[in-house]
Amino acid sequence: MSVFTLARLSSTATAEAPLAQAALPTKGLARFAQALPTLFAPETAGIEGTEALPAVWQDEETFAARIADYQAATAALADAARSDNREAFNTALASTKAACQACHNAFRAKPSG
Ligand code: HEC
Repeated sequence: MSVFTLARLSSTATAEAPLAQAALPTKGLARFAQALPTLFAPETAGIEGTEALPAVWQDEETFAARIADYQAATAALADAARSDNREAFNTALASTKAACQACHNAFRAKPSG
């Protein structure tokens, strides 16, 4: 869901279309970011077939920091869309993508994107 939303937002960023149409998907992304800690609750550690590295549950502090970065980036993105601020939107889109990557690099078995 995050990938699909992000792809759509990337095309919104380059299009002439008003950012208002991105308001709903960005809000969804920000909400999902708020739910991330629940998705990686302690009882999900070592679940079969997971790509999540053990560090998720072993280095909770850093993982929580990556989640916080991501929540801040997606919240800024939603704000920028709501206020139709294209410059802020593009900045926040870049930091959102960087936040996906930063977390995957340290916490996901296939740090592809
Ligand atoms: C705070 C850490 C964190 C952030 C931020 C994060 N991810 Fe992930 N992501 C993970 C982890 C850990 C996994 C492995 C989950 C698993 O296999 O159980 C994962 C898995 C994925 C997968 C594979 C899903 C699957 O079903 O196999 C995709 C696609 C993905 N992330 C995309 C994104 C995108 C796009 C963003 C940003 C919009 C993002 N992620 C942000 C930690 C993060």
